[in-house]
Amino acid sequence: MRQLVEEARRQGRLVGFVPTMGGLHAGHASLTRAAAEACDEVAVSIFVNPSQFGPGEDFDRYPRSAEADCRLLAEAEASWVFMPEVESIYPPGDATRVVVGGPAVRWEGEHRPGHFEGVATVVSRLLAMVPAQRAYFGAKDWQQTVVVRRMVRDLALPVEIVVCPTIREPDGLAMSSRNAYLSPDERRRATALSAGLATAEAAWRAGSRAAAIEAELRRRLEAADVVVDYAALVDPESLEPLAADAVRGIPAIALVAGRVGSTRLLDNCMLD
Ligand code: PAJ
Repeated sequence: MRQLVEEARRQGRLVGFVPTMGGLHAGHASLTRAAAEACDEVAVSIFVNPSQFGPGEDFDRYPRSAEADCRLLAEAEASWVFMPEVESIYPPGDATRVVVGGPAVRWEGEHRPGHFEGVATVVSRLLAMVPAQRAYFGAKDWQQTVVVRRMVRDLALPVEIVVCPTIREPDGLAMSSRNAYLSPDERRRATALSAGLATAEAAWRAGSRAAAIEAELRRRLEAADVVVDYAALVDPESLEPLAADAVRGIPAIALVAGRVGSTRLLDNCMLD
């Protein structure tokens, strides 16, 4: 993989990289298309990264659909699909981990201990194996984009991080590989995340205070039987919570995470 990218770069070609865990959907396709439009070659990795799943999480049942994934990637004009074995990413006896503090500490960091250590470790190794000039990430996982950008900056990794918009189902549900777990009833209730965020955005624009918007967002989620991990208005870069009386006119993003049945879903909406 590295030789292919290096050879393309020697020929003056711009290479984009899209890391994924497979179970691909239109969100992944849009990242790949965005990369294909801006770059000459696009590498997509499919690797269900064991180190970013906690004990009791869904590593074993995570969707694995290599053939359908490759068809989707051919359609989206990927040049190469990189599907490393676990031993290539984690050589036996490996003893190195990447730990990001700051924006990785709260929210997902708090509810999934070790998750971002797994993400930062695998992304740094994938970037070393796929030495593209650009790497593409989805705003769907907003905190992940902030953590990856911080890691790239702090480690001076020679790659530009590009963040692409969240792709949604027609009813607003953010596309996710985990949506495949939802029963029809859970699928209906899952729309509370995007609907709640849309209401939060309207309230923010209308001048409501952060604390009132958070309370209303949580109420709407709970009314749909979503078990809320967090529903918070935060600064988009530091990910620190906004003050309770914060109002429009400052940068803000709403982050939500919760469980619908046994499926954990995330979503967010930039407010300003
Ligand atoms: P995965 O969940 O497969 O997502 C791969 C990329 O697709 C991420 O950048 C994610 O934000 C983006 N993505 C997912 N759903 C999206 C949607 N609805 N719209 C736009 N983009 C979307 O995120 C991971 O894998 C892993 O943590 C990874 C970065 C590959 C490290 O293992």
